Amino acid sequence: MRIRIAPGGPIGGAAEVPGDKSISHRWLILAATALGPSEITDLPVALDVRSTARCVAALAPAARPSLEGWLVTPPDAPQAQRSTSNEVRPRPSRSRLYLRAEGRAALEAPVAELDCGNSGTTMRLLAGVVASAPFEVVLTGDESLRARPMERVARPLRAMGASVETTEGHPPIRIRGGRLHGISFRCPVPSAQVKGAVLLAALAAEGETVVLEPAPTRDHTERALAHLGAPIRVPAPGEVHLSAFQHAGFSARVPGDVSSAAFLIAAAALTGGELRVEGVGLNPSRTRFLEVMARMGVRAEPHVLGEELGEPVGEIHVRPSTELVGTTVPAEELPLVIDEVPVLTALAAHARGESRFAGAGELRVKESDRLEGLAAMVRALGGSAAVEGDDLVLAGGGLQGGLADACGDHRMAMAAAVAGLGARAEVEVEGAEVADVSFPGFVETLRALGASIEG
Ligand code: S3P
Repeated sequence: MRIRIAPGGPIGGAAEVPGDKSISHRWLILAATALGPSEITDLPVALDVRSTARCVAALAPAARPSLEGWLVTPPDAPQAQRSTSNEVRPRPSRSRLYLRAEGRAALEAPVAELDCGNSGTTMRLLAGVVASAPFEVVLTGDESLRARPMERVARPLRAMGASVETTEGHPPIRIRGGRLHGISFRCPVPSAQVKGAVLLAALAAEGETVVLEPAPTRDHTERALAHLGAPIRVPAPGEVHLSAFQHAGFSARVPGDVSSAAFLIAAAALTGGELRVEGVGLNPSRTRFLEVMARMGVRAEPHVLGEELGEPVGEIHVRPSTELVGTTVPAEELPLVIDEVPVLTALAAHARGESRFAGAGELRVKESDRLEGLAAMVRALGGSAAVEGDDLVLAGGGLQGGLADACGDHRMAMAAAVAGLGARAEVEVEGAEVADVSFPGFVETLRALGASIEG
């Protein structure tokens, strides 16, 4: 699908965003391996989350009936609904999912390969779960996922005692679970997916497991486990200790995805709009982009109003920005804004002065090569951008307009659309439907907030 974004007035109002993808994967997996019933409210219909749901349904037959109900009848049409002026409710009817799981030991051999679709998080986290299962599982995915590196997760799981075969370092991965023992694992790359996989394996391993990260990454797994009573310790940022534990079921509401909210915040900032995003996750390991945006002149403030399974939840208020200026994101900060580099690039392209994202090599192995793809996108829209080693460098100064390709990558599609809102002439985005991977209803939400988008 090709969309056309016309330059226009301010984007603003009040909005909610679909549930957080990172949190949903983890809570689904934890619910399917719990001893006892769980209830998860507001799971998004994002394609990645549905991939995890399908896989856990195949592994946890005891929980399957209610999971199937959710899969067959998606809880929400993926459309935003406009109620009063510029009020967007993309979750008009709340979804509710019940699982009656019987513990991790009750997982069963799936009858076929597990298809993780486009979702690296699904594949890597599930690898950690099936590493302890007494049967063989093959994890596979779409073409983009089959090109992504998997040895990073295979190595520590082998060291814990599982048999893991990758296909020349990539999916499909064949895992024969075994008796696991704890390890001390120093992650070579900062990756919450790898950390999460090792921690999920550690829940069924003998002895303590320690994960040391080169830089702290999102801590959703740690927060949920601590909340469920697991023997987990985080003595310093980037160091996690965990021993075996069988958790009980739980009830929780998935907060809105702050990485999705980032696109709406940038849209408001680029167009001088005023916006309130409600019911959104405000975990500090995910909101670092707000600090980067603040350095660029964006006035967006988070307000924590409550908590769900250890996750802070609240609102973000955006006031009209004046002038955007370029910034540098140093390599130490980059892992905490890894998913927001595309949206920050959209802002940086319109800012006064140069911006630099340093040490961003990990972007090469996301849903697409985002490092080269972002530079190409900015150039396609009439701006100036280059890749220097592992750095992405933008000259700033604004965009003319033109045609950008989503590269089959949800965040590339949304970044191009947002960049278009500030461009001097029309911007077209080819393949924009891929936004459904994390933000079903993205285009409708922007439209309801005042954007002029056709297609
Ligand atoms: C995620 C971790 C990040 C991120 C991805 C979601 C997670 O990947 O890019 O969108 O939920 O753990 P890496 O851990 O590979 O950096």
